[in-house]
Amino acid sequence: MIGKVQQSNHERGTAGEVIAARNAVKEYPGGILALDGLSVTLYRGEMVGILGPSGAGKTTFLRLLNGSLTPSAGEIRVLGQSLKGIKTGELRRLRSRMSLVQQNHNIIPSLSVAHNVLMGKLGKISTVGAARMLLYLTREERDEVAEVLGRLEIGDKLFSRCGELSGGQQQRVAVARAILADPEIIMADEPIASVDPRTAEVVMNQFRRLNSLGKTVILNLHQVDFALQYCTRLLVLSRGKLVFDGLPEDYRGREIFERSFAGEERRVCCAEA
Ligand SMILES: Nc1ncnc2c1ncn2[C@@H]1O[C@H](COP(=O)(O)OP(=O)(O)OP(=O)(O)O)[C@@H](O)[C@H]1O
Ligand SMILES: [Mg+2]
Repeated sequence: MIGKVQQSNHERGTAGEVIAARNAVKEYPGGILALDGLSVTLYRGEMVGILGPSGAGKTTFLRLLNGSLTPSAGEIRVLGQSLKGIKTGELRRLRSRMSLVQQNHNIIPSLSVAHNVLMGKLGKISTVGAARMLLYLTREERDEVAEVLGRLEIGDKLFSRCGELSGGQQQRVAVARAILADPEIIMADEPIASVDPRTAEVVMNQFRRLNSLGKTVILNLHQVDFALQYCTRLLVLSRGKLVFDGLPEDYRGREIFERSFAGEERRVCCAEA
């Protein structure tokens, strides 16, 4: 299918909806159209892979979903709540139900791995509790962090300073922090970009585990193979538009094209058959 969106989930309506974008447009200063009228509904329990070339709008989309960017036009709904005009307190409460692992990891280099990971809980604990955490960690907190780090194969880094870790290890700290937040929706922006293929499997298996526990998982990925292997649904973005929405098996072997403004067709993605 060229330049068309597969209809696989569209007939489901709002039952089980966790995220809905309706004609979402994001124009950055300088007239850069990062998202150009994106409409899509994501459902509870899906594991969604978002693919597309660099600059397609993938990061912009995730940042609209967690409310750190606002759309120039259109509407975003998360967990039944519209983000349009949402109050700061409401957005904070909503964010405690979703986690975004950012492309730049967003960790604090001067703090230990344990403290960075425990920050995932900040939305759910009191200010006093957060201050106490900086002074000392309870046995339970240490064990909880160690368990998640162990599953990501960086259990030995519990008390290392984050700034001393490799890029791939920092990336896994950011994933661990999102896991500890225990959200209903977990989003990650290129979570396996800085790790080797075997470690990528370790990380993807943790996302699959979360998904099997009922969480909705949304991943921006450049690795088509991993997207095909792990995701239950694929979205492909190109120049801010959705050019494919469907099952991995329907994407496999298919070439996705976009039509440029000059009327030429250009291949943007191609999965192995
Ligand atoms: N803060 C910003 N100000 C201006 N333009 C921006 C800003 N952030 C992103 N853009 C532009 O918006 C477009 C979409 O960017 P975005 O980061 O969403 O792409 P992406 O699909 O995540 O790319 P990548 O795969 O390289 O991470 C690009 O043209 C980018 O240059
Ligand atoms: Mg990006």
